[in-house]
Amino acid sequence: MQNKKQVLESCNLTQEQLDSHWMAYTGNREFKKNPRIIVSAEGKYYTDAEGRKIFDGLSGLWTCGAGHSRPEIIEAVSKQMKELDYSPSFQFGHPKSFELAHRITQFMPEGLNRVLYTNSGSDAVESALKVARAYWRKKGHGSKTRLIGRVKGYHGVNWGGISVGGIGANKAIFGQMMEADHLQHTMLPQNRFSKGMPEEGADLLSELEEMVILHDASNIAAVIVEPMAGSAGVIPPPVGYLNRLREVCTKNNILLIFDEVITAFGRVGSNTGSEEFGVVPDIITIAKQVTNGVVPLGATIVKQEIYDTFMDAGGPEYVLELPHGYTYSAHPLACAAGLATLDILDNEQLIPRVKSMSPYFEDRLHSLKGIQYVHDIRNYGFAGALTIEASPGEPLLRPFQIAMKCWEKGFYVRYGGDTIQIGLPFTVEKEEIDSLINALGESINELD
Ligand SMILES: Cc1ncc(COP(=O)(O)O)c(C=O)c1O
Repeated sequence: MQNKKQVLESCNLTQEQLDSHWMAYTGNREFKKNPRIIVSAEGKYYTDAEGRKIFDGLSGLWTCGAGHSRPEIIEAVSKQMKELDYSPSFQFGHPKSFELAHRITQFMPEGLNRVLYTNSGSDAVESALKVARAYWRKKGHGSKTRLIGRVKGYHGVNWGGISVGGIGANKAIFGQMMEADHLQHTMLPQNRFSKGMPEEGADLLSELEEMVILHDASNIAAVIVEPMAGSAGVIPPPVGYLNRLREVCTKNNILLIFDEVITAFGRVGSNTGSEEFGVVPDIITIAKQVTNGVVPLGATIVKQEIYDTFMDAGGPEYVLELPHGYTYSAHPLACAAGLATLDILDNEQLIPRVKSMSPYFEDRLHSLKGIQYVHDIRNYGFAGALTIEASPGEPLLRPFQIAMKCWEKGFYVRYGGDTIQIGLPFTVEKEEIDSLINALGESINELD
């Protein structure tokens, strides 16, 4: 491996330039001592500043399932840039935003057919929470404001998202949030090393029924969960859990929001987690894979009755029904990237490929059971994670060390909290899965 000076020289970067960037979700002090700079990407591999090829074991950040530098996407975005580089997203439209909206709805469960664009997953969550509260006001139920999330839930970084999210570290650093309740997470000890959906946990939803009794449904707007939690370390839903959640929400007139920023467009082997797990929410949030990560785009997709409620209560037709949106909502480049991506997913049948190859991945991932420090293994579709036993006094150290060892061996995996996470590219071959799992196993075995 090159030293820092060589890395900077080969990228033509100065120390000042390195220091100028306050990097997101990064240990900046460590990174700036040991910069890991990616200079190009093609297919399932990155190239770093030393010219090393690195396997993309997380598909970017769960974004690039179709692989990097896809000519179809490059061409579509380049063409779009020449034709219409930007167009105001308020009060005017451009053809591709409508085309993509319709295309997105073809991937959604039946009935979720109205698409509100955002720039990212965090924005999609924020939009969903605002829509949920405004919806009840429009219907004359202004007291329905309370939001319920789940412990370990990750819903992005904005205020609403971190309030309903269940990441304790956020409360520690940012303090007081919006008021929200949280269901328990489903990572029960008896579910350790489950393959796919664990057996235990649907009963946990009696807690939601208790919350309804405590607060009264007339005060609750929505429940938001990831159908399969991703960022907390791949937590598939227990058998029957989402069905029971749907039942309790329906019975009590509470909107159900699925945050599918990771799970939509193939990650779990179906178009959505909703389809895969057989439960239809009222609102779905998406981002990431919809443009293969090439241009940022998110969306909040609602069932028609929600949209119609806003239209019916909208007053004169020239008045906007929802005072919400972003300067870059429905950005033409993002829409072009989205259309090209969804064509690739369809034309190459990548989503069924995830489904048919996921048993192989499951088998290989679970072969790591029994290795030192591997406390749990979870998987679904092309998502998998290990929970790593904490080293005394330094709970986050081992996952970081493992991810760095993998990087040195030519494999990118994510470390987050006490977990190592894998999100395979949809085009992965069996030999690549083998190499990745071997490198991961070796990296763990090399720990002190
Ligand atoms: C379920 C979920 N919701 C929201 C987000 C936030 O998305 P973004 O980083 O695009 O804001 C993420 C990001 O990982 C996510 O996994």
